[in-house]
Amino acid sequence: MFMINVSAPGKLMLFGEHAVVYGKPCIVTAVDHRMSVSINYNEDDIIILNAPEVNIKDLKVNLKDLKKEHPKGAKFVLKAVDNFFDKYNVNKGLKINTKSEFSSLFGFGSSSAVTVSTIKALSILFNIAMTKKEIFDLSYKTVLDIQGSGSGFDVAAATWGGTLYYVKGGKIMEELEIDNIPLIVGYTGIKADTVTLMNSVKKQMEDEPERISKIYNDMEKIADESKKYFYKKDWKMIGKFMNDNQNLLRQIKVSTPELERLIGASIKAGAYGAKLSGAGGGDCMIALGINDNINKIEKSIESMGGKIIQVNSNAEGVRCD
Ligand code: MEV
Repeated sequence: MFMINVSAPGKLMLFGEHAVVYGKPCIVTAVDHRMSVSINYNEDDIIILNAPEVNIKDLKVNLKDLKKEHPKGAKFVLKAVDNFFDKYNVNKGLKINTKSEFSSLFGFGSSSAVTVSTIKALSILFNIAMTKKEIFDLSYKTVLDIQGSGSGFDVAAATWGGTLYYVKGGKIMEELEIDNIPLIVGYTGIKADTVTLMNSVKKQMEDEPERISKIYNDMEKIADESKKYFYKKDWKMIGKFMNDNQNLLRQIKVSTPELERLIGASIKAGAYGAKLSGAGGGDCMIALGINDNINKIEKSIESMGGKIIQVNSNAEGVRCD
């Protein structure tokens, strides 16, 4: 049996982060930086995992120990295997290698992409047909088993790819038929902790439910309204929505001076709009610019200490390579 090679894309949140955790819609695009998983059977009842990007080298896990605690970098792959074995009542030793085209520091969703790739690779190896929705459901369960919370938008982007209008748990999942979005991505150099940021927003929701609900309703309007402007390629309007969304994110205190510096620099250089993307607290910001001003915006972000990450949006979802 040959190695099965599968890859899934990373993601960038365009509109609706945090609000999506509370049942509001978001818009997410898959990016062409991929996470790959190669799987083959192993003769012994052992899983051997190599994941160099998270410092896992020749980790050996006996099948009977699959449900025990594992090193941080191995958790998502091993939980995905465990959930797959339980669901389909199979059990076999495996050799698994992972490879990433992007750093887990960027907030591109490496955990979700590796989980989706693992589930898809197992379905091919064990010859079990799974629909995209089934891959999503089992991957989302895996992410929740480990993280305890999250809307699953990153799992949806890794599974379906493209640009999605998404509601938590896959309740609504609309694929937007649009072309590449002219995004500029700036990395702050700071790793954000999503769970800490989600908890801080949760506390604000408990303390001031009316204020936060109003912000989430406004974010919902942006996600809903923006759809038609994506179709029209009206980047000016999309940029305006990005600025509006960023204002709301400031009000829930998830932006930081570093993010603001890069956002301000891009607006000053002529971007139609800019905002943080994801949980906030660090990671990446995105700006929208076209043709002649892209270079200027990138230079401006770099002059403020940001690192430009070249991405294409609307990347293909999980696939066999
Ligand atoms: C994190 O990238 C985005 C959040 O909305 C969390 C989630 O949707 O799971 C803050």
